[in-house]
Amino acid sequence: MPVNTELPTQFRMNTGAYIPAVGLGTWQAKPGEVKDAVKHALSAGYRHIDGALIYQNEEEVGEGIKESGIPREKLFLTSKVWNTYHDRVAECLDKTLESLGTDYLDLYLVHWPVRMVANETSPLFPTNPDGSRSVDRSWNQQETWRQMEALLETGKVKAIGVSNWSIPYLEHLSQTWKVVPAVNQVENHPLCSQNDLLAYCTDKGILIEAYCPLGSTNSPLLKDEELMKIAKKNGVSVATILISYQVNRGVVVLPKSVTPSRITDNLKTIKLDEDDMKTLNEMAANGKQQRVNTPLFGWDLGFHDWYGVGNKDAPSPDAVTVKA
Ligand SMILES: NC(=O)c1ccc[n+]([C@@H]2O[C@H](COP(=O)([O-])OP(=O)(O)OC[C@H]3O[C@@H](n4cnc5c(N)ncnc54)[C@H](OP(=O)(O)O)[C@@H]3O)[C@@H](O)[C@H]2O)c1
Repeated sequence: MPVNTELPTQFRMNTGAYIPAVGLGTWQAKPGEVKDAVKHALSAGYRHIDGALIYQNEEEVGEGIKESGIPREKLFLTSKVWNTYHDRVAECLDKTLESLGTDYLDLYLVHWPVRMVANETSPLFPTNPDGSRSVDRSWNQQETWRQMEALLETGKVKAIGVSNWSIPYLEHLSQTWKVVPAVNQVENHPLCSQNDLLAYCTDKGILIEAYCPLGSTNSPLLKDEELMKIAKKNGVSVATILISYQVNRGVVVLPKSVTPSRITDNLKTIKLDEDDMKTLNEMAANGKQQRVNTPLFGWDLGFHDWYGVGNKDAPSPDAVTVKA
């Protein structure tokens, strides 16, 4: 299948820097797998790797990068400050830089607008005596963002952004931000297309990045009949449709795979026609809305389809049973 040259291969962030339109996801890439996945991706032409401290595999990602032999300046590396580091953002960044074996990131994100307080139960997934997550409800996310802004002056990050931020949370942040986030990385695929968030972020100059673009592990998307029909019509796989969907609407897309043939395939995108884009954009609103990644912090994150305002069926945030 030829690579479609009608589509952009990179997007411009509000910093003026370019970000490759397709990046390799690394969440749930198991130890022993992710180094080879990164090496294969880089040899196949990827230049963008999406990671996070909480994936606990950044050292291996760093080894893959080193063994690829690709010069650092040709790569676009993203990582994320984890929830238990909202009061120590610079410390979290230093850990990531050391693991990756680099002295800067192209993009650093606030992973979730949720601060958790590390305690003796765990430095990363701390819980309270009743089993609920150890969340600091009094924490002001504007303080986390102030620390992110300060990182820009150190040269250790070239751009800063957020992840899992809904419109109400962005509105709150906008009251004090000096630097507008370069991106907002959120769950995005046709069953959760978040058209309102995309419009809001575009208006503010914030690029959306689509995570779980294929529907993550055991995806409900790959066997969806409407999607299979669009794939058949275009003579490509459902995965190619899902990745192409995002690039066609100006969204950065982060498919994860540790399978060499899929890694290579996932770099290919096709131009979709208006009918297909309409169907894809409207699937969620037409009754198929579904999230695949809803970690229960016991916290209203402001997404109307999740626990948020306007969802009469949603449990009150305080009533949510928090899973270990
Ligand atoms: N910011 C956040 O909170 C957040 C949350 C979730 C994810 N993310 C980021 O987004 C990335 C992508 O999300 P994700 O990993 O959850 O899920 P995903 O990319 O939607 O799906 C990954 C799954 O699809 C399979 N797959 C990959 N390519 C395929 C293809 N061409 N055909 C069929 N199956 C294919 C993979 O299997 P194999 O690997 O076995 O090939 C894996 O099981 C993550 O890795 C991470 O970097 C960020």
